[in-house]
Amino acid sequence: MDSQVLYKFQVLVLCFAYFLLSASAAVVQRSSYVPVTSTPNGDEIFQIGNISYLAALKQPKAKLKAAFSGSSGTGLATVISTSGKTVTADSLKATLAEYISTDDVLTEDFLSSVYLTSSTSGAYLDSSAVQYLSSMSVEHVMLHSSFSNAAKGGSFKTSFVPAATSIAPGPYATSIQDGTISFSPVYRLYSDTYRDFLFGAYDSGDGKGTHIPLGAFLPHFWDPMIPVPSRLYSIGDTRPLAGVRVAIKDLYDIKGLQTSGGSQAWAYITPIANATAPSIQRIYDLGGVLVGKYKLAQFASGANPWDWQDEHYPFNPRGDGYLTCSASSSGGGCSVAGYDWLDNAIGSDTGSSMRRPAAVSGTYGQRPSQGMISLDRVLPLGAATDTAGVFSRDPKKWVKFAKAWYSPDLHQPPSITGLSPLVVPDTDKFPKTILYPTDYLPLNNSAAQPILEAFISNLTTVFGMTVKKFNFSETVANSGDPIASNFSLTSSVTGVIDSWTQYDEVGKPLVDKWAELFDGRYPPLDPAHRDWKHFNTTINNPTTYAQALKTKKAAVDWYEKHLQFSTPESCSESVMLYDIGTGGLPSYRELDLNGPPSTSFLAVKPAHAAITGASICPIFACADFTIPIGQTTYFSNVTFHEEIIPVTINMVVKRGCDFMLFNMIEKLADAGVLKTVKTGKAAF
Ligand SMILES: *[C@@H]1O[C@H](CO)[C@@H](O)[C@H](O)[C@H]1NC(C)=O
Ligand SMILES: *[C@@H]1O[C@H](CO)[C@@H](O)[C@H](O)[C@H]1NC(C)=O
Ligand SMILES: *[C@@H]1O[C@H](CO)[C@@H](O)[C@H](O)[C@H]1NC(C)=O
Ligand SMILES: *[C@@H]1O[C@H](CO)[C@@H](O)[C@H](O)[C@H]1NC(C)=O
Ligand SMILES: *[C@@H]1O[C@H](CO)[C@@H](O)[C@H](O)[C@H]1NC(C)=O
Ligand SMILES: *[C@@H]1O[C@H](CO)[C@@H](O)[C@H](O)[C@H]1NC(C)=O
Ligand SMILES: *[C@@H]1O[C@H](CO)[C@@H](O)[C@H](O)[C@H]1NC(C)=O
Ligand SMILES: *[C@@H]1O[C@H](CO)[C@@H](O)[C@H](O)[C@H]1NC(C)=O
Repeated sequence: MDSQVLYKFQVLVLCFAYFLLSASAAVVQRSSYVPVTSTPNGDEIFQIGNISYLAALKQPKAKLKAAFSGSSGTGLATVISTSGKTVTADSLKATLAEYISTDDVLTEDFLSSVYLTSSTSGAYLDSSAVQYLSSMSVEHVMLHSSFSNAAKGGSFKTSFVPAATSIAPGPYATSIQDGTISFSPVYRLYSDTYRDFLFGAYDSGDGKGTHIPLGAFLPHFWDPMIPVPSRLYSIGDTRPLAGVRVAIKDLYDIKGLQTSGGSQAWAYITPIANATAPSIQRIYDLGGVLVGKYKLAQFASGANPWDWQDEHYPFNPRGDGYLTCSASSSGGGCSVAGYDWLDNAIGSDTGSSMRRPAAVSGTYGQRPSQGMISLDRVLPLGAATDTAGVFSRDPKKWVKFAKAWYSPDLHQPPSITGLSPLVVPDTDKFPKTILYPTDYLPLNNSAAQPILEAFISNLTTVFGMTVKKFNFSETVANSGDPIASNFSLTSSVTGVIDSWTQYDEVGKPLVDKWAELFDGRYPPLDPAHRDWKHFNTTINNPTTYAQALKTKKAAVDWYEKHLQFSTPESCSESVMLYDIGTGGLPSYRELDLNGPPSTSFLAVKPAHAAITGASICPIFACADFTIPIGQTTYFSNVTFHEEIIPVTINMVVKRGCDFMLFNMIEKLADAGVLKTVKTGKAAF
């Protein structure tokens, strides 16, 4: 201890003694710290009142030498960053109020110890501040060396912290040993009440993004617990995704976690991931926080809710709570629709798997242009049809996330996509035409159609576009192009692309390994994957796959010349609208509830269309975004009560015009046409 600090310490001991004689009793009652259990790696789960937390004791963010001999064991502290020469009660109150309103982890229960840092040297804690901290029952105040002194009269112990250790504000778990106090990050544990997750996870603190699975579970309601760190830890972090909490589809590798693809059999034969998918690493590098793995249709299939066996189907917060989450990024859309404590979820889209879950959960979600981001270390379906997207409630934050995430150095090469190299201009060269396909629209629920019409009217106003009605199926079929016009051909090559990669990299290795381990048995898989036993390698093999890519490229070339094309004024001359959802009708998670005309199945091909709307972009490589535009009602056969259901629309543009479409979304949000959706039963 240097002499100056020793002097301060002596002064403070005197202050403290003085205070013991004069102070009135503290007024705030605090819930006490209750340790619950240690995790296998030595971190600690604890409760305060009825809230559970995780203290990442194995990765302290700061160790401070303080002239303080407190008891050992875990304690709680709040780091408060102050500015200005004189720190007053009002300034402390205002800072704390702001912390508590922006963060869901910090509560006043963390005020048993307080560490005050200051950006001004020679800062001083005035008597009102000392009185305020006493009235909050603070027991120990640590002052950063930027403080010169504190007024007398506090009911707390005070120590000066000599070294200028930087530490983000917020709640911490502390432990004291040999005059050193360690500050470890605290996570709040939320219970996954909609059971949309497989498990929660948190950063190991190795700086490389290795994660630790959290094996915590709320027995009362069977819910996994999901850890989220204090939002205050990222104050001052200027990276675009700093502190953004993201759930990941369990198809992507995260170093330290098991990837299952929604299959226990796959988890059985696959080691813990020893590296992170580059697409997920980028989120981490941009400051994002990975909170856990969410449920998916097994190996990203399109299985209906009633065909899930390994996992219990996730719940949708919207309406009566018994609506489908769709497939396959089901847990992603539904968790973003369900939880304010979660910001985004990463999913994948091969045939509809981002766009339809976004539609039924009333959230924003996209299938980007083919080739937008690397899918290395992601379990594949079809290498040249798979894409990755992000779910969001807030249109502007969605745009910010996607633009930061989709970096050109992660674009997929033509050797994977079979297409020309992807170029994604960040441009305001907006479309002039709204294509309205009469074979897909109007919406199936007549109560939802006026919402779409208002949206179209808003689009024409904001961008000065004109609406062109056309028949998509007829236009393509009559194009005269030998490949594009042949829907049976383009659909069948998409079938080859969607099957081969998965069989080659997942199906065959799994089936062979299981047979070897279990006396020739076929692995226990959901019904959607029983047919690997009969996989026809005459139809699907590297040669037919390569041929399929050539056919696909020819169809895409036609599309970009004749249907959605660039002009000097527009990246994509048109934006095409259609609905990938249910047109505002309920589709239930239970098979028997679907069937009456006032309900809907998913993936329904309109009677006179050549293909489902969902199939357009997987075939033609375009970008297709699901956008929530309103809501309507239905009478639920589960709650026997009127319930609210989201209405969404899909916006489709030429491949490569994603950022143009994102810029349109931003303008629509500025104009008040698009809004942030709420969590829970109703999106608006
Ligand atoms: C937890 O306790 C607080 C304060 O006593 C109370 O307001 C809240 O409703 C409780 N929450 C639950 C989930 O029990
Ligand atoms: C990860 O594990 C695989 C085998 O599963 C191995 O081939 C590879 O070298 C390992 N990579 C690293 C970075 O350890
Ligand atoms: C959108 O269009 C509808 C119908 O024309 C109109 O009532 C509404 O005010 C418009 N909304 C915005 C935000 O411009
Ligand atoms: C669109 O074209 C298809 C194929 O020619 C035809 O069957 C269908 O009836 C047309 N739909 C509309 C709404 O015109
Ligand atoms: C369309 O493609 C299929 C192969 O998928 C072929 O059998 C059929 O003859 C083609 N139709 C036309 C009109 O060219
Ligand atoms: C595989 O498909 C080819 C072509 O359709 C067919 O002739 C063959 O019988 C199929 N093989 C099996 C094992 O089903
Ligand atoms: C509810 O069930 C009744 C009776 O089967 C049926 O007529 C009605 O269409 C159903 N409505 C919904 C929204 O499920
Ligand atoms: C619209 O609803 C009708 C009646 O339920 C159904 O037959 C049709 O397939 C639905 N169309 C779409 C595109 O969902």
